[in-house]
Amino acid sequence: MNAGLRAGLIGLGSMGRHHARVLTALEGVTLAGVVDPLGDKNGWAQGAPVLTDVEDLLAMGIDYAVVACPTGLHEEVGLRLAEAGVCVLVEKPLADSVEGALRLVDAFESRNLTAGVGHIERCNPALRSLRSRLETGELGDVYQVVTRRQGPYPHRIADVGVIKDLATHDIDLTAWMTGRSYVSIAAHTVSKSGRPYEDMVSAVGRLSDGTMVNHLVNWLSPLKERFTSVTGERGCLVADTLTADLTFYSNASVATEWEALRAFRGVSEGDMIRYAIPKREPLLVEHELFRDAVQGISSDICTLRQGLRTVEVAASLLDSARSGRTVVFEAEEAVRHGA
Ligand SMILES: NC(=O)c1ccc[n+]([C@@H]2O[C@H](COP(=O)([O-])OP(=O)(O)OC[C@H]3O[C@@H](n4cnc5c(N)ncnc54)[C@H](O)[C@@H]3O)[C@@H](O)[C@H]2O)c1
Repeated sequence: MNAGLRAGLIGLGSMGRHHARVLTALEGVTLAGVVDPLGDKNGWAQGAPVLTDVEDLLAMGIDYAVVACPTGLHEEVGLRLAEAGVCVLVEKPLADSVEGALRLVDAFESRNLTAGVGHIERCNPALRSLRSRLETGELGDVYQVVTRRQGPYPHRIADVGVIKDLATHDIDLTAWMTGRSYVSIAAHTVSKSGRPYEDMVSAVGRLSDGTMVNHLVNWLSPLKERFTSVTGERGCLVADTLTADLTFYSNASVATEWEALRAFRGVSEGDMIRYAIPKREPLLVEHELFRDAVQGISSDICTLRQGLRTVEVAASLLDSARSGRTVVFEAEEAVRHGA
């Protein structure tokens, strides 16, 4: 392996601190510098030089940068890095608007620079295993994907609502896991915490193969949950991405003879299996994949174009909540939403 990639980190907050930790230990990479206008008040920089301006980081010479500043700044910072010829891994969501996300896609694609979005759920062991099982057809025909992402309010997120901040995880993982695009979406939102943005959303949609999708996402629950289920012909796969557990509830192959139970529980309840899967840290997997991509080794990263599609679907949730209508994607757009 080429042992000399120099990486920079932009933004040393709640997420940036983890990027700093993982980059410092990442094989074949040196954390060359960290940029944050507030400096390193918490001692999270892992000994790397701390700078207050992106220009100072560029002057040090870097191969790629991780962008972990607030979402509203991703576009401005990303465009500057593209101009400087630096590859980037941008935190999710790619940008806070469809137009901004499009400008980033154009900036990196036109320069042929490697760029990815940190949709970290793709690196969760439970979802990686779930996706492989769908690919090999373990569930048979897929009927429905349900996600629930609930928890208390994160006081640091001030520039976007829960759709852009959290539901983008669910939109990306659903398209990535099923390999299907969204063809329609409808949503209701509420805003209860006195902020200008929504803090709770309930969405229902459909994917290009007819699979039904439901997302429940909020910042208003004391119950923290990260739940994904896929129901299909042969049963139901449930991933908990907090614990990285994957469980299969199979349809029964043996019919019950107990009449009362049959009436109460239905006839199709079968075995339940919790899979033993290796649990590697998702952020480390994300960084390994991106490092390999920068080195030209084929790797499965979330591309900026896929990140743009997620931002487009998120914008449609907001449109639907405002208008009270279902957003149906144009035929061409539906194709573009395909992961
Ligand atoms: N992948 C995930 O699971 C995940 C989790 C949390 C946050 N995020 C994403 O990471 C990004 C940051 O979120 P956070 O929770 O760390 O926020 P945060 O507010 O904790 O940290 C943001 C940091 O960026 C710094 N900053 C502000 N302006 C800057 C600039 N111009 N240049 C460099 N740094 C600047 C701030 O001083 C702060 O330290 C967001 O886009 C968020 O969506 C992703």
